Amino acid sequence: MALYRSGYRFCRCLALTLILVGVTEVKGQLMWVQLHNGSLGNVTTAAPVPPGRRDAVLGYDVTRNQLILFGGTPGPLNDTWIYNVANNEWREVNTSGAPNPPARYAAVGGVSGGYFYLAMGKGPHDVYYNDVWRLDLAGTERWEMLPVAPQTTPAQQDNSSQPYSPPGRAFTTGGIYVTGSRLYVSLGTNDDMRTKYTFAYDVVSNLWFKEDEGCNLYDPRCPHPRYLHSGVMTGSEEFVVFSGCLSGEGSAGPCPSHDAWRYDGQAKTWTQLDNCPTPRLYGTMAMLPEAEGKRYVALYGGQTNTATIVQTADLAADEVAILDLESGSWTLRQAAPENNMTAVPELRVSAAMATGPDGIFLFGGASYQ
Ligand SMILES: *[C@@H]1O[C@H](CO)[C@@H](O)[C@H](O)[C@H]1NC(C)=O
Ligand SMILES: *[C@@H]1O[C@H](CO)[C@@H](O)[C@H](O)[C@H]1NC(C)=O
Ligand SMILES: *[C@@H]1O[C@H](CO)[C@@H](O)[C@H](O)[C@H]1NC(C)=O
Ligand SMILES: *[C@@H]1O[C@H](CO)[C@@H](O)[C@H](O)[C@H]1NC(C)=O
Ligand SMILES: *[C@@H]1O[C@H](CO)[C@@H](O)[C@H](O)[C@H]1NC(C)=O
Ligand SMILES: *[C@@H]1O[C@H](CO)[C@@H](O)[C@H](O)[C@H]1NC(C)=O
Repeated sequence: MALYRSGYRFCRCLALTLILVGVTEVKGQLMWVQLHNGSLGNVTTAAPVPPGRRDAVLGYDVTRNQLILFGGTPGPLNDTWIYNVANNEWREVNTSGAPNPPARYAAVGGVSGGYFYLAMGKGPHDVYYNDVWRLDLAGTERWEMLPVAPQTTPAQQDNSSQPYSPPGRAFTTGGIYVTGSRLYVSLGTNDDMRTKYTFAYDVVSNLWFKEDEGCNLYDPRCPHPRYLHSGVMTGSEEFVVFSGCLSGEGSAGPCPSHDAWRYDGQAKTWTQLDNCPTPRLYGTMAMLPEAEGKRYVALYGGQTNTATIVQTADLAADEVAILDLESGSWTLRQAAPENNMTAVPELRVSAAMATGPDGIFLFGGASYQ
């Protein structure tokens, strides 16, 4: 693990804000447009901008047409920022009036019902959080920590009718869907192990539930334990995961792997989707804006070369992989730069993405070349 972490020290972290457009018509040209270059130039009166970072949580608030950004690394960071899309302006949220989430990265979150949610993640000194927070977007712009029962003991784990409070975790996947009331956390690591479990936090009852136990290593019905995978909520009770690092802890597996899965939270079942030809660690996924009932997920960035696999060809900087949620099949696409950019954005790992009405917003990430 230390191998992947060591890159953080040399993180050349980026602060560009971009939008990937042209995606509602999936056969049309995908295009990157630069919204904000992440630098002030030498204009000292300009609004501040968030420092570059990776493994942050980004959400899009459709009501106020704004992005919300929390945390990430190097740091870890505890800052909260809001990007006003119409004014093309960042501002840091003044969080000094109330407790706010401790610094962390590799957490999950999302915007739902006027709140930006944040859960899990890794803090300084190898702390893995299992707390849940929300930022009130409609009124106070204050953070509030939601109640979480003490972590469940092994004896309590056998009683399936008891709410379950999971141990902290990072490099997991999930978050909350825009119309959802359950915040999902699936797979990931707490450093002792890669986990196969899926949990959901009900933001109305304020209880965690164990959703899915996962399967044993060679069981084909559900994904092998993993972390550093990509994933995204695709419905209020549905998410997908792709690739990640399956090896280690005495149980060999590919790192990165090719496999993709969809979890159905109503049926509580996993469905394996097609393999994607370009497996990776630290990739980022977001849903494309829905058009004519068609639902697609975009997968961007990440790192193909790892300690165990050295590929001859790396990911192309312009590659965007599109997953058709209906058929479970992938298409590799080439995104073009908009004419105010000289080239497509530099290939990056651990960027943050969020779905907007016209495309996918991207912030930050790290160059690893
Ligand atoms: C680039 O062009 C797009 C579309 O014309 C525009 O919305 C955006 O503000 C431009 N970005 C910059 C940094 O000029
Ligand atoms: C970034 O944008 C700012 C403000 O628009 C501008 O002053 C600066 O020159 C730009 N920097 C680069 C590197 O393009
Ligand atoms: C801003 O940068 C430009 C180009 O680098 C330079 O010519 C100009 O003197 C700078 N202005 C200030 C106030 O530093
Ligand atoms: C964020 O962390 C810094 C230390 O890195 C600390 O000084 C500051 O008080 C924290 N901010 C909040 C709002 O908790
Ligand atoms: C931030 O909020 C606190 C408490 O509400 C207030 O005392 C302080 O003046 C605010 N700071 C800024 C820079 O607005
Ligand atoms: C399991 O939990 C339920 C709900 O809290 C409780 O009523 C029941 O007694 C527990 N069963 C056992 C065997 O502990």
